[in-house]
Amino acid sequence: MDESRILILGAYGQLGKALQAKYPQAKAVNHDAFDMTDWDMIEKYDWSGVDVILNAAVFANVDGSETPEGREAAWKVNATGPGYLSKIAGAHNIVLVHISSDYVFDGTKNPHTEEEAFTPLGVYGQAKAAGDIAVSTAPKHYIARTSWLIGDGPNFLRTMMGLADKNISPTVVADQIGRLTFTPTLVAAIDHLLVSKAAYGTYNVSNDGAPASWADVTRTIFKELGRDDLTVTDTTTDEYFASKTGIAPRPLKSAFDLTKLRNAGFVASEWPSALHDYIQDELAKVKE
Ligand SMILES: NC(=O)c1ccc[n+]([C@@H]2O[C@H](COP(=O)([O-])OP(=O)(O)OC[C@H]3O[C@@H](n4cnc5c(N)ncnc54)[C@H](OP(=O)(O)O)[C@@H]3O)[C@@H](O)[C@H]2O)c1
Repeated sequence: MDESRILILGAYGQLGKALQAKYPQAKAVNHDAFDMTDWDMIEKYDWSGVDVILNAAVFANVDGSETPEGREAAWKVNATGPGYLSKIAGAHNIVLVHISSDYVFDGTKNPHTEEEAFTPLGVYGQAKAAGDIAVSTAPKHYIARTSWLIGDGPNFLRTMMGLADKNISPTVVADQIGRLTFTPTLVAAIDHLLVSKAAYGTYNVSNDGAPASWADVTRTIFKELGRDDLTVTDTTTDEYFASKTGIAPRPLKSAFDLTKLRNAGFVASEWPSALHDYIQDELAKVKE
């Protein structure tokens, strides 16, 4: 694979930054340089130098997607845009790599297989599911379906590390169960699919290990930080959001069946060890 013929979209988001680290020779574009909702621009773009599109762009505001403006943005970026990419990839014989989400499911099945029917609860998940359908029509496509992404950007781990810094013992939801996905794992899985020329299609991708709740993940974070003085109080999703309005429904069960990915030759590390590495990196950055 010629790295210089890779185009990374959404290159400055959590996943986009990790893709840039893996493929430094790739062309990396931000939202301003490449708006994936602009068909005129996409059609006129010079695709002669592109073999692979890595689409890390997303309208990620899950709750904001429930507002009138957010609903439009979510559908444009998460459904219409991937549809444009699918069309252009097909026309130029390009491999399209797209990222899906556990939010395309209602979270009643455990674990989720690649064959499970879409049952999104909120607008974000509905638009993501539509994006998956559009991308799946591209002749050469990989959809990496992922959950609970942690990379270089605002995320749950950084929020909890911030609370620990402030000596806050938080109340955390204990009825959403899933597995974290660290961006280096997701990037390595994508690279594996591309390099090994795995069969095109959808692959669940997360770190492995026993599925856990956000509350349990928080306990693991505090343990890693050596903060046994902090406690984590369990709550339910309904209780946690009871006093808030405009909150999108969340799937309660998010863990994926990773058999297809394993059978394709990629074994993801367990999330507690990936979490250990992530926290060590974050602590090292603070010391620098
Ligand atoms: N985060 C999670 O927990 C999670 C869970 C499951 C799946 N995923 C999936 O993982 C993928 C990557 O997510 P992430 O957390 O890395 O997202 P992120 O950090 O929010 O980054 C998304 C990037 O997309 C860009 N973008 C937004 N609209 C765009 C447009 N119209 N054209 C081009 N770029 C645009 C954003 O740029 P601006 O900020 O400049 O607009 C931003 O840099 C997404 O497909 C997401 O659905 C994430």
